[in-house]
Amino acid sequence: MAALSIKDAISTPKKPLAPSKRKGTLLIVDDEEGPRESLRLIFKEDYEILMASDGPMAIELATKNKVDVAVLDIRMAGMSGIEVLARLKNVEPSIEVVMMTAFETTDTMRQALRLRACDYINKPFDLSTMRSAVAHAMQRRTLDTEILTNEEKLQELREELHNQKLQEQMTHTRGEIYASIIHDINGPLTVISGFIQLMNQRIGNSTRLEVEDLEFIKDRLKTITRQVTNCIEISRRYLSFLRRQTDDAPRVGVNQLLTDLSHLMRVHPSKQNHYFEIHPLPQDIGVSMNGTDVIQVLLNLSVNAFQCSPISHSVVVECRLLQQPLELASFKDGPQERLLNVENFKNSAPLLKMSVRDSGPGVSPEILPKIFQPYFTTKGANHGTGLGLNIVQRLVKEAKGALHVRTEMGEGTTFTVYLPTVPLATA
Ligand SMILES: Nc1ncnc2c1ncn2[C@@H]1O[C@H](COP(=O)(O)OP(=O)(O)OP(=O)(O)O)[C@@H](O)[C@H]1O
Ligand SMILES: [Mg+2]
Repeated sequence: MAALSIKDAISTPKKPLAPSKRKGTLLIVDDEEGPRESLRLIFKEDYEILMASDGPMAIELATKNKVDVAVLDIRMAGMSGIEVLARLKNVEPSIEVVMMTAFETTDTMRQALRLRACDYINKPFDLSTMRSAVAHAMQRRTLDTEILTNEEKLQELREELHNQKLQEQMTHTRGEIYASIIHDINGPLTVISGFIQLMNQRIGNSTRLEVEDLEFIKDRLKTITRQVTNCIEISRRYLSFLRRQTDDAPRVGVNQLLTDLSHLMRVHPSKQNHYFEIHPLPQDIGVSMNGTDVIQVLLNLSVNAFQCSPISHSVVVECRLLQQPLELASFKDGPQERLLNVENFKNSAPLLKMSVRDSGPGVSPEILPKIFQPYFTTKGANHGTGLGLNIVQRLVKEAKGALHVRTEMGEGTTFTVYLPTVPLATA
């Protein structure tokens, strides 16, 4: 193949070709036309040839083309071969350079090798030595390129894998959020459906409503409206999950929330004939958690407490104000006890201690470490999603609270939530 004209070569943009299919590019640099021409003739069939008659032209060609190997005369007018070598390596560190020498001192040779020239050949050269030196240099260059390409491919693959993992995790989180919405909205919906049934029973087939009936219906409608608002708040909470700020949460008093909980539990199907009691605070206070979330936490814990056994047992919700921070060292995780969210816990008094205690069968040491995992349930796929406690833990963590469980087989279980308090707005 004919050599590229210098003009063509300089104006051709750098375009890397696939290393296996591409012919190597050889740059011949000599200020004497004779040797330059004879080198071109020797290699024109095997390689793409670029030719330069001085240093600056050689640098320019190497900048604009992908040069694999350069054959470089060490002694040239103007820029010396050693300087050209240094600058070529600067343009592209993996260019292989074969130096042509005449009567150089060992110092110059050493300098050339230090600058990573790959070989040197005495001038005048013999054909076979020159051929094998260039072929060897080309081979080294191809290997270098292949190693580099493989490394790049490996890096690309790693990135792709990482992206895929991220994608999977995001899909997983999204799935969990959707499942949580359904889980949480199910509570208010159960209450709504219970109240509608009650109203239906009351109205029956009567064509006229008495005053008491109207009062009864009005009262139930109020609760239904509150529950519908609850559903809307729950969906809002999840939709804004990632950019939620607990700071702008409405500061409703804890005792007021306990009253709401008592209304909800009265008609909850899981209450059945179990005993239920709520002990409010002697004096109301606010907490750093959204009101809907507080109810959600207590509702999930109370429903669990009711469902832990079909045999009639008691469930007690109790709130107390702690005037001292928790002594975290006195909590020891073990077969009957666990403390969660310690890392994020804002442990400063006054703290609200909110516990849900049942006299049920307790949690066995084998399953205690699993109960907060998403989708872990012992109720069977048709009865439990296994998300309740995971949601509780998430909400408590967001409010910088701590969550504790203590259980004893045959005696019962107590879940306790510790929350930082805030003064109630005096409106
Ligand atoms: N008070 C409790 N007493 C005994 N076991 C409990 C108690 N609370 C939770 N558990 C155990 O922890 C498991 C996980 O509870 P979680 O609330 O996360 O899911 P779930 O109640 O099974 O399902 P869902 O909340 O969807 O109804 C329960 O299946 C149960 O085995
Ligand atoms: Mg549950």
